Amino acid sequence: MDYKKLYKEKLTTAQEAVKHIPSNSRVVTAHATGEPTVIVDAMVDNYLQYENVEIVHLVAMGNCGYVRPEMKGHLRHNAIFVGAGTREAVNDGRADFTPSFFYQVPKLFKTALPVDVAMIQVTPPDENGNCSFGVSCDFTKPAADAAKIVIAQVNDQMPYIYGDNFINIKDIDYIVEVSKPLLELKPPTIGDVEKAIGENCASLVEDGSTLQLGIGAIPDAVLLFLKDKKDLGIHTEMFSDGIVDLYNSGAINNSKKSLHAGKMIATFLMGSQKLYDFVNKNEIVELYPVDYVNDPITIMKNSKMISINSALQVDLMGQVCAEAIGLKQFSGVGGQVDYVRGTSMSADGQGKSIIAMPSTASKGKLSRIVPFLDHGSCVTTSRTDVQYIVTEYGIANLRGKNLKQRAKELINIAHPDFRDELKKEYVLRFKEDF
Ligand code: COA
Repeated sequence: MDYKKLYKEKLTTAQEAVKHIPSNSRVVTAHATGEPTVIVDAMVDNYLQYENVEIVHLVAMGNCGYVRPEMKGHLRHNAIFVGAGTREAVNDGRADFTPSFFYQVPKLFKTALPVDVAMIQVTPPDENGNCSFGVSCDFTKPAADAAKIVIAQVNDQMPYIYGDNFINIKDIDYIVEVSKPLLELKPPTIGDVEKAIGENCASLVEDGSTLQLGIGAIPDAVLLFLKDKKDLGIHTEMFSDGIVDLYNSGAINNSKKSLHAGKMIATFLMGSQKLYDFVNKNEIVELYPVDYVNDPITIMKNSKMISINSALQVDLMGQVCAEAIGLKQFSGVGGQVDYVRGTSMSADGQGKSIIAMPSTASKGKLSRIVPFLDHGSCVTTSRTDVQYIVTEYGIANLRGKNLKQRAKELINIAHPDFRDELKKEYVLRFKEDF
């Protein structure tokens, strides 16, 4: 059937579309700046009509009304990554947290967490009736593929992005048209500490490397120090505005990539309108589902692959916690371990995984390098997987190092105010002088 006719038949309002969400069901919504805010908010407004509906996604950036206390018995959030809008609810017990490697989330939707309804945000259809998922392909496309019902917010302000990033009108059940700017990610504040960390990380990046960069001030600070590098490539979970500047500086050309040469590959994007304008119908940018982009087996095929992610605490053995402060769930594993493992499996043996963090937290009151992770905390990257740890004081390379050598390397890049305390722990643990 002509897709234009189908489109008209499926067109409805947000209030009508959300009436099709059944009770006792699981709803997966697109996340981050790709969240379909109008239909998600309409679902929350309609909450009294539902019993026992589970809302699953990762990065929370919208209003998160589904975690309000009055939703009890109607809507309940199951977070695979915790964000500012969902953190309090998860830690108060009003919402749940399910640990999962990011690349395995699509598999969960086919197995342990089957999807009843997918709520997505897409571009208007092209001449073939295909809508681009725009900035959020990740688990969104696999969830739409697996769902019994697909409700789409069609937004003419969503950038049209290439890759395996499309859904045809025939596979959408209900269409709600909006014309609304996407959610935007505020640029991080980059101070002197972040700049020193950025410079240390950049010293590990050789010309011709392919990069994965996490979210926040540290990855953005690294980009500032890469402007003089040559032939860099991008294969990353997500990227933001900083990559646009680095691309425009000429340092990124993707020419030396051993996989998807000439293209920047990601699974989702978060940034400002500047980023959205850059990626719209840009043939060098392609998004693919997360079970492809973040699969360590895909990552390992990139030559000179370098991943740069951050952490909250690292203990003296090199165990990294990037997602919890004691029992408090702060974020999630996201793609950190996908990239740590993918780089260490590198086919060319030249992969490097970097965990970069300021040496202290809480305005300098706490060391992030600690003898033991906080009671109740969890390990995100294990001591067996970890490679480089970077702070503003230097670089510790832990791969192939024994426990004593690791402790020494880490103490040497801790904040000077905490080194004596850590050295005492070294003496106690290893029964020898530091
Ligand atoms: N003890 C107590 N508080 C701590 C702490 C610690 N060990 N470490 C950090 N904090 C506090 C900080 O002081 C800060 O609070 P403040 O803003 O009031 O000062 C807050 O916790 C956040 O810490 P910060 O390091 O600024 O967080 P961030 O926004 O840079 O995010 C991670 C860092 C590790 C949470 C984030 O990178 C993450 O979630 N990583 C896991 C997922 C991942 O790596 N994905 C990679 C692919 S994108």
